[in-house]
Formats: sequence, C-alpha cells, structure tokens
Amino acid sequence: MQISDIETQLEELRLGATAAIATAESPEKLEELRINYLGKKGQVSKILGGMGKLSPEERPKVGAIANKVKQTLQTNLDEKRTSLQVAEIAALLQAETLDVTMPGVYRPQGKIHPLNSLIDKALDIFVGLGYTVATGPEMETDYYNFEALNTPPDHPARDMQDTFYLPDGNLMRTHTSSVQIRYMEKHQPPIRVIAPGRVYRRDTVDATHAAVFHQIELLAVDERLRFSDLKGTIKEFLRQMFGDLPIRFRASYFPFTEPSAEVDLQWNGRWLEVLGCGMVDPNVFKAMGYDPEKYTGFAAGFGVERFAMVLHQIDDIRRVYASDLRFLQQF
Ligand code: DAH
Repeated sequence: MQISDIETQLEELRLGATAAIATAESPEKLEELRINYLGKKGQVSKILGGMGKLSPEERPKVGAIANKVKQTLQTNLDEKRTSLQVAEIAALLQAETLDVTMPGVYRPQGKIHPLNSLIDKALDIFVGLGYTVATGPEMETDYYNFEALNTPPDHPARDMQDTFYLPDGNLMRTHTSSVQIRYMEKHQPPIRVIAPGRVYRRDTVDATHAAVFHQIELLAVDERLRFSDLKGTIKEFLRQMFGDLPIRFRASYFPFTEPSAEVDLQWNGRWLEVLGCGMVDPNVFKAMGYDPEKYTGFAAGFGVERFAMVLHQIDDIRRVYASDLRFLQQF
C-alpha cells in the first residue's frame, strides 16, 4: 500500500460523498450519508485502516489529509442540512398561507319565525307598560272557555265560535280569554296581564282562516279603571306596533265585556279589524269572587296571524305555517 493509493482513495471518496450530499433530499438521507462516510465503521475509517502499512513518517501526512476530507464532508453535511431545513420551512409557509381574498364560506343562519317575533314584540310592548306574561292550557274545560266568561250553555254567543270538543267533554280553547279566568282565580287585583297562545276553531281553512292560530289576550283589573284607560292602552300598543296610523273603536258585542268594541286600523287606505276589547262584564268578576262595585277592568284579544298579515302584507295565512324557506327567509 502506497501513500498515494490512500490519497487517491480519499480523494475519490471526497468526490463521491460531495455529490451524494448535494443530491440528498431529506435530513434522514443526510444522516444516513454521515454514518456511511464519517461513522466509526464508515468509509473514511476503513481507508485509514490501511494506514498501518505506511511508514511512521507517512502516517501524519495521511492523517492530515484524512482530517481535511472529514472536515470538508462535515461542512458539506451541515450546509446541506441547513438548506434542507430552510426549504422545509419555506414549503410549510407556502402551504399554510391564508388567502384573505378567497370568498367566505356561506352558512345559512336560522332566524325567529315571523309569528314568534311578532308575539315577542307585542309582549315587549306590554311588559314595557307594566304587564306580566301568563299562559294557560290549550285543552280546556267548558267552564274556563265559556261559562266563567259569562257564556252559559244556552248562550247564543257559543254559535260565534265553532268549537273542537274532545270525547271526554273537554275542548280545545277557542280563545285565550280562558287565561283571564285562570289568572284571576289565582291572583287578586290589581292585575295587568298579557297572555299569548294557540287557539283552535272548526273553521274551514282558506286564505284568511286556520283551524289553529294564535291570540294574545290582555287583562287589567283595578279600582277605577275606565274605558278611556282601555282606549289609551290599545292606542299606545297599536302605535308601537304599527306606527302612527288612524284607528277607530267600533261598538261590538262579547259576552264577557260590557261595553264591547272592535278596533279597526287604517292600513293602505282600508279599515282593517285588528282586535276585540271591552270593559270586563261584572258577571265575570262575580264568578271570580271579585267585588264588581269595587273593581273594574278592561280586556282585549287579538289574532297574531292577522297582525302579521297586515304588517308584512302576507296574502294567505297558510304561508305562515308552510315552513317554506323561500317565504321564511324574507323575515
Ligand atoms: N276572545 C275574543 C275572540 O276570540 C276576543 C276578545 C274580545 C277578547 C274582547 C277579549 C275581549 O278579552 O275583551 O274573538
């Protein structure tokens, strides 16, 4: 073995290793190369193993060359490792770039049904006027729906409403006025109460009639309440609901109020009936055990669908229940 042989081997190794390092594509591959060339059992060590056959004078010379080769390869490895890392970070940054000019993702949003939002609005107005919200059952007895409301069995006013009777003699309430009775049973005057709810009528369904619809009932009982209080309350409510529109009170009849009135609202040049109301009939107070000489009261009831149809210019009540998104998304 000649010193020149070892030098040649080292030079060939340096060339081959440099090329391999330059084309390595990953840190793992680089580590493999490092072990292969510079490891304890690597190729440089193997070549140096042949040094034993050299003379003592030649050995340091070869050792110096070998060290130089080792250093060069180590430097190449380090530089390549750094450049691979830089490339990796650059690729990551590129992949994670946020393009703020991309169009957003459209997620359809749910909203409150027009009937519910109208009920909410009406309740808000009355709560603002000092009223409390009350509810009652949709299945009722004859007593709460009719009798306690001054509508005995033979009363002609029962013909005004076609009632769904149940086999056990109970019925589906035809109006929310039943809640007046349930509330008065449990409370003493002064009373300010507002009661929203579903009501049922055996009506033939058409553009303006539904078998199930919604009402909001109003009841105030106190000493010295007068018809002017009723008028003022209704006026203020309608003003907040519809804005400043002409309204008129028209004499009417309900068994549970005396006097009674219906209220019309001028909307798009036409008078529309929007609610019934009146001073609570003394007979209703007597049934509740209230002294009609001491207490007076007023009551009103209105149909929510009717309000919604006027407010939103809906042509057919059935649209309100159809759950057609093309309709509902307009609100
Ligand atoms: N209950 C009546 C109806 O369904 C509406 C009504 C009228 C309610 C006059 C009242 C009232 O409280 O005083 O047609």
